[in-house]
Amino acid sequence: MRILSGIQPSGTLHLGNYFGMMRPAIELQTRGEALYFIADYHSMTSLFDPAERRQNSLNVALDFLACGLDPKRTTFFRQSDVPEVTELSWILSTLTPMSLLEKCHSFKDKAAKGIPINHGLFAYPVLMASDILIYDSNVVPVGQDQKQHVEVTRDIAVKFNETYGETFVLPEPQIRADTAKVPGTDGEKMSKSYGNTVEIFGEEKTLRKKIMAIKMDSRLPADPKPDAELNLAIQLLKVLDAGTGREYEEKLRAGGLGYGDLKKKLFEVYWECFAAARARRAELVANLDYVHGVLREGAARARALAQPVLQRARRASGLE
Ligand code: ADP
Ligand code: TRP
Repeated sequence: MRILSGIQPSGTLHLGNYFGMMRPAIELQTRGEALYFIADYHSMTSLFDPAERRQNSLNVALDFLACGLDPKRTTFFRQSDVPEVTELSWILSTLTPMSLLEKCHSFKDKAAKGIPINHGLFAYPVLMASDILIYDSNVVPVGQDQKQHVEVTRDIAVKFNETYGETFVLPEPQIRADTAKVPGTDGEKMSKSYGNTVEIFGEEKTLRKKIMAIKMDSRLPADPKPDAELNLAIQLLKVLDAGTGREYEEKLRAGGLGYGDLKKKLFEVYWECFAAARARRAELVANLDYVHGVLREGAARARALAQPVLQRARRASGLE
């Protein structure tokens, strides 16, 4: 089984990224041949600062390795180190109906917020299809918001196979129901673009403040709260640690637990959850040559897998 996923270096990684994509991806490492990459080409659709892209890419590498990506098992690389993916993207784009892309939430959501849409952003699902198909991927672990893109990938693969003969493997998205949509500090989906994130690796004081500032209602600590499962701090606590989350949910329901104490607990659990990863990250920061080496080796491995698949597509479509 080949497992593939990517993450954009478009900002600082947060709990939504971790529980929605990184942790499932890390857990899948032992279940097949995993390939994970930093989607720097994709980040070009929305980030236009070269220094920031460079820094974010390195940070994603550090974060992912610190969280447990094992480069001995997993091929870990930068998307743009395998430029073959852009050639395949062009080939696939010629078989992608406009109407398929016009349906995609990703660009529609940005357009609705008044963000100017460039062609790259509109065509982004085709590049993502190329990412997936060029490695003959079977399983794609992602959060809920990426499901549509994997469906688009399947549609494009079917179209190619029908037009030019069996060439591509059809991938399946893998989405964990319990962490498909991690809420942010405002209760909306946690997202880099909504300013409601809890970073995986933040500065202690800032993060404590962020968590303590989560808005609660005005009910008194002693009041029983029959709707405890809707409380945002409880929801986040459950994502971080299901057992403690359920325990505090019952305490809140019964009455007697103040919101301040609940949020204090949430911060403690969050901080402890990433304590080991934080220490590993500090070691990696002191050893950047190692990190660059991992990405270099990963790129060579990924490229060796991508080239024959691209050639298959070139042959099938009459370019060779
Ligand atoms: P963002 O919305 O912050 O820009 P990305 O689109 O870069 O995040 O997402 C990277 C990965 O993390 C994707 O697989 C996405 O589905 C997952 N992800 C992002 N936010 C969340 C969230 N709040 N809950 C679950 N998964 C998420
Ligand atoms: N579009 C994904 C995101 O924003 C990142 C990504 C690019 C990806 N290519 C991929 C994810 C291929 C899975 C497979 O999160």
